[in-house]
Amino acid sequence: MKNFSKGLACVLAAVVLTAVLTGCGGRAGGRTIIRIGHNQSTNHPTHIALSEFETWIESKLGDKYDVEVFPSELLGSQNEMVQLTQTGAIHFCVASNSLLETFSTNYTLFNLPYLFVSAEAYHAAMDDAAITGPIFASTKDAGFEAVTWLDAGTRNFYTVNTPIETPADLKGLKIRVQQSPTNVQMMQLLGGSATPMGFGEVYTALQSKIIDGAENNELALTDNGHGDVCKYYSYDMHQMIPDILIGNAAFLDSLSEEERAVFEEGFELVNQVQREAWTDAVAAAKDRAANEQGVQFLYPDTKPFQEACAPMHEDMLAQYPDLRPIYDAIQQYNEQYPSAAS
Ligand code: GCU
Repeated sequence: MKNFSKGLACVLAAVVLTAVLTGCGGRAGGRTIIRIGHNQSTNHPTHIALSEFETWIESKLGDKYDVEVFPSELLGSQNEMVQLTQTGAIHFCVASNSLLETFSTNYTLFNLPYLFVSAEAYHAAMDDAAITGPIFASTKDAGFEAVTWLDAGTRNFYTVNTPIETPADLKGLKIRVQQSPTNVQMMQLLGGSATPMGFGEVYTALQSKIIDGAENNELALTDNGHGDVCKYYSYDMHQMIPDILIGNAAFLDSLSEEERAVFEEGFELVNQVQREAWTDAVAAAKDRAANEQGVQFLYPDTKPFQEACAPMHEDMLAQYPDLRPIYDAIQQYNEQYPSAAS
């Protein structure tokens, strides 16, 4: 991705310049251009869902809005895109919940390792507005609002040449983590050496042996080529971290009631389309990784990993006691939807 950085910088500079000269997003033929950035490929469920959002908004409000979706970090890294959304240089972007904890500590909750015991509990909790509402609104003062969540599966470790069967296998390995204090702490507790960096830099870092591995869902192996370099993918299941679609708060507030209703339906559509496409995308990625890239999938006992990270739950609740009721509500979903293994 770095090879394109000059071209990307030009796109970004043009977008920012247009925004500065014309106000948030710019105008084309009397229509406001709504720019949405994300860091996935055009095959990814997130891009497919945002393209449907584009069609939806233009079918309902096409005389007023022209939606443009920019994939593959074309508008910058996730961190940069969040800042562009904050200032209103772009209207929306998709950010991992991990990154958002540096904008509001409330988001720390969804980054906790082993917070959800099953995908069903995770989905039910994220669909519950009583759980997400207070967290999603908490960045309004920072200039942006979370409008829906997107599935990003389960995060697991993968390495160039070390099968990870227990936390002890991580010792001495440099593992890329997302740029968030929670992820760094998790890696420290598990015994590896945390190397935070942006998503777009991971492939080159793996290839040039700056890092020994990373952690992500299966799509990173295929869509981002990490499986060309990493041959062991270990289902330790440490996190289910949602991606979040965020929007510029001033823009959202400027919408009329009718327009806001259309946008809300669009956000719901993004969520539905993305999660419907997710399961098939993971199955296809796994198949390709195993059969074309030669990745070996491992299924270690997850308990020792979970035990190593367990202190993080009480630590977080002691630090942010306001999050306790939401944490407890998540435990109810965990009881309702136990893991298949338990
Ligand atoms: C996943 C997630 C992205 C995130 C990436 C990362 O792919 O969907 O939003 O940027 O992980 O590890 O940085």
